[in-house]
This record gives sequence, structure tokens and C-alpha cells, in this order.
Amino acid sequence: MAVPLDSTDIQSDNYRLVPHRDFYLISNIHNPEEVDQIQSWKIQDSDVFVVTYPKSGTIWMQQILLLIEAKGDTTIISTKPNSEQVPWIELSGAGKEFIAAPPPRLRVSHLQYKFMPLALNQRKGKVIYVIRNPKDVLVSYFHFHKFAAMLETPKDFNCFFEKFMKGEMYGNCWFEHIKSWYSHKDDVNILFIAYEEMIQDLESAVKRMCMFMDKELTEEQLANVVKHSTFRNMRLIPQANYEFVSEDLLNHNQGSFMRKGTIGDWKNHFTVAQNERFDKVFQEKMEEVPITFIWDINYIV
Ligand code: A3P
Repeated sequence: MAVPLDSTDIQSDNYRLVPHRDFYLISNIHNPEEVDQIQSWKIQDSDVFVVTYPKSGTIWMQQILLLIEAKGDTTIISTKPNSEQVPWIELSGAGKEFIAAPPPRLRVSHLQYKFMPLALNQRKGKVIYVIRNPKDVLVSYFHFHKFAAMLETPKDFNCFFEKFMKGEMYGNCWFEHIKSWYSHKDDVNILFIAYEEMIQDLESAVKRMCMFMDKELTEEQLANVVKHSTFRNMRLIPQANYEFVSEDLLNHNQGSFMRKGTIGDWKNHFTVAQNERFDKVFQEKMEEVPITFIWDINYIV
């Protein structure tokens, strides 16, 4: 059954949030039965999954993974769109494609841990989980809801803020998503990386990823990966920034995937009251999760 929308929200009839096992999927994009089959996927050691709550740097990681795999050679990012080379595992048809694809299979996902291949528990394959401070996630997701045709267009920021706090959106509750993955942070085949850490020092973050993926890159190759993954450069690469995606899915006149790419834009959106409320909920929900975030670009040294 589809989730009833607020009368003030605008959504295409083609796409609806559909609850499935305490998670929302999107009709016509996800198929619940196929999503359930992901658990039984056979995994190879070379498989790498990047998992994020939406708006935490997924397309950034698609670019970095491809460049690491190609040792900094940019041919790979100028041929096919990144979304075809590093596709989402929860999209309809992804299972068949996964089985047929040659290694290394690089994939992205917004799913909670409970949907992932069970083989990950037996240390098969690798997961990079990217975490971003949730105030910036909220703001980025607000703008993305206007840009993405498959998501309902929010009436205004206040309405969206309330929905985010309730987790009534694709990805569900940010806190639950993070917790579902954080409890596995010490698994040997899972690497946690923060968006803010990548903003602060992209080269070090890429080095961590290379070590985790058992990839040895020369200094020159590493420099190439970093160079072609910066916000400024990715903005110019249609294969990386989703410019090519059809208007049916993305309203290109309403925004872009590459919006600001910084830390602390929430300060331009949150009211003082919203910020206080967010901090209170954050404290309560994250009591057992000792992650510290960088909330402001000025805290970067
Ligand atoms: P903003 O909307 O705050 O600008 P996702 O890929 O998970 O949807 O995340 C999109 C967010 O990641 C956007 O945030 C986008 O600008 C940011 N992003 C994408 N590539 C980036 C890069 N190379 N450097 C910094 N931020 C990047």
C-alpha cells in the first residue's frame, strides 16, 4: 500500500513511497521481491558496495571507486555514465545484471543493513559506508526532492524538516540507517568514512579506501584520482554528475546533484528553534553511537 501524501505535496503518479519491511521503497523503481532476493546474492571477494543514507556523497564515491579501479586513468569516466558502471543494487533488474557482470563489481546502495547480501557476514566482499552530518543531509535532501521527479516536491523547508525528523522518505529515518550500519563498523570488511573527512583531506580519504580495497597506486595515480574527484572537476563531467539523466527522473531546471558540496549549509536553512530541536533529538537518538561530526566548514583545519 502506498503512503498517503500530504495534500500540499506534489508527486508524480508514477512514483510512490511503498513501505516494505519497515523501509520505504519507490514504486516503479524498486521491486520489493527483487530487493528481498539481494540477501541471497553470491558475493566475490572483489565485490565492493558503497552504502549511504541519501545525500551523503554517493555519486562522489561512484567517481572515486571507478578512478581507483582504473588507477587514475580517466578513460573509464569518460565512456559510460558512472551510474551504469557503479549501479544501485536496489533498482529493478539489478540482480540479473549483478550475476552477469564481470569482476570487480562496484555497486552503490541506500539500503539498511538487513537487506544486504548475507555473505557479507562471512567476510565476503567489502562495504564502504559513507556518513555525513545529518543537518547537511537534511538540507541537501530538501533540495534534491525538488530536483528528483520520483520524490515528492516539498511544500516548503518546514514541512520537509518535519518529514525528515519522522523518517517519512526514501532511506527512512537517518538515525535508524546509521545505527543499522554502525553496529557493524568493526567488521573487517566494512569501512566507515565521513563526507566531512573527504572534504577536509580527500587524498588521505582516498588512501584509506585504496588500502581497504587492496589497491596499490603510485603517487601520480593517486593524485589523478583526487584531481578528477574534486567538486570543481566533477561538476564538469556529465558522466559523473548525472546531467545525462532524463527529465522523467530529474528536473534539470530545478537543480543539480552537484549543488554546494560543502559543510554547514544547514546554517542557511535551519531556524534557531529547528536547530535546538534537532540537537535534542540527536542527543537522545545517538546516545549509544559515539560518532562526532564536523558541523561547520570553519572547524576544518
Ligand atoms: P549538497 O547538496 O550539499 O551540495 P548523493 O550523491 O549521496 O546524492 O550526495 C549528493 C551530495 O554530495 C551533494 O551535496 C553534492 O554536492 C555532494 N557531492 C557530490 N560530489 C561531491 C564532490 N566531489 N565534493 C564534494 N561534495 C560532493
